[in-house]
Amino acid sequence: MHIRDPKIIARLAEIHVDLQHSVALAGLTSLGIGGTTDLLRIKKHESLPYLLSLLDANDIPHKFLGGGSNLLVGDGELPWVVLQLVRPEPDVVLDGNLAHVDAAADLGRMITFCAKNDLGGMEGLIGVPGTVGGALRMNAGAYGMQIGSYVREVKLYRAASRKVEVLRDHQISFEYRHTSFAPDDMMLSVILELPSKPFKLILEGIRICNEKRRSSQPLGQKSAGCIFKNPSGASAGRMIDELGLKGLSVGDARISDRHANFFVNAGHASAQDMLALIADVRERVQKSFGVSLENEVVVWNA
Ligand code: EPU
Repeated sequence: MHIRDPKIIARLAEIHVDLQHSVALAGLTSLGIGGTTDLLRIKKHESLPYLLSLLDANDIPHKFLGGGSNLLVGDGELPWVVLQLVRPEPDVVLDGNLAHVDAAADLGRMITFCAKNDLGGMEGLIGVPGTVGGALRMNAGAYGMQIGSYVREVKLYRAASRKVEVLRDHQISFEYRHTSFAPDDMMLSVILELPSKPFKLILEGIRICNEKRRSSQPLGQKSAGCIFKNPSGASAGRMIDELGLKGLSVGDARISDRHANFFVNAGHASAQDMLALIADVRERVQKSFGVSLENEVVVWNA
């Protein structure tokens, strides 16, 4: 989708939104897959309500992009524009055990910055790519922890009220890879309350998690992390592995040899290739185990 109307373009500049035409989303996602559309980069949170009313008034559909690390975007010309927050400087401000973090902050850098200030708890998420906003939206977790446990409050643009709101922790439900945020809500910032821990100890925890991740996940390859959620009491990766499906490919979309719930882009995979592989695996798991696997990866298909 393209914004060509000079009046809209002028309004965007006035509200500090940087418009980039025909951006290939493949370059903005960890899978390296995705067609083209206009990208609107938002420099000031305050612009958001007006920006969204401007898009609505002109029938321009939109989607919010975080770090693009848990996302499978469709091929070709995409029928919506993409909005993304520009990371401010600084993006993390500490106040005792509280970390005030912008949603556009890089998750790994935020964890490291807090660790250097003797604030821990998030060690399990080191090595998970993406933004803090993205991690928050899906309640990212690993090695027995999840980000939701540390949330004090979240500032977000709520699609339902069309307003910027602040939600306290008890107003949000954080479950396994799921939250009560609506799909059209946009995370703006979060206050995390983190336990005090000496830097050395945090570093040791980070080292252990890094080692586990390196030995079990295909870190150097283009992927979106785990494709499917784990069904209750089971591991999707183990089931796919037990069916002997590691290495199965559709075009350049391929099941990792290292972890069967990671599907990698081994070259120039298209979204169609990846979607066909996902559908095939889902059907085989359903047939053999009677389990219907649910996507963990978010799919933006036209
Ligand atoms: N397994 C296999 N073959 C495989 C993969 C796994 O037999 O190809 C077995 C493992 O040996 C292990 C069990 O399955 O006994 C579980 O595997 P693992 O410890 O790798 O954990 P997982 O359940 O596959 C989950 C999260 C990961 C997270 C790790 C570590 C989900 C869907 N996945 O994986 O999160 O990093 O635990 O805590 O919840 C993600 O969210 O994208 C993600 C990668």
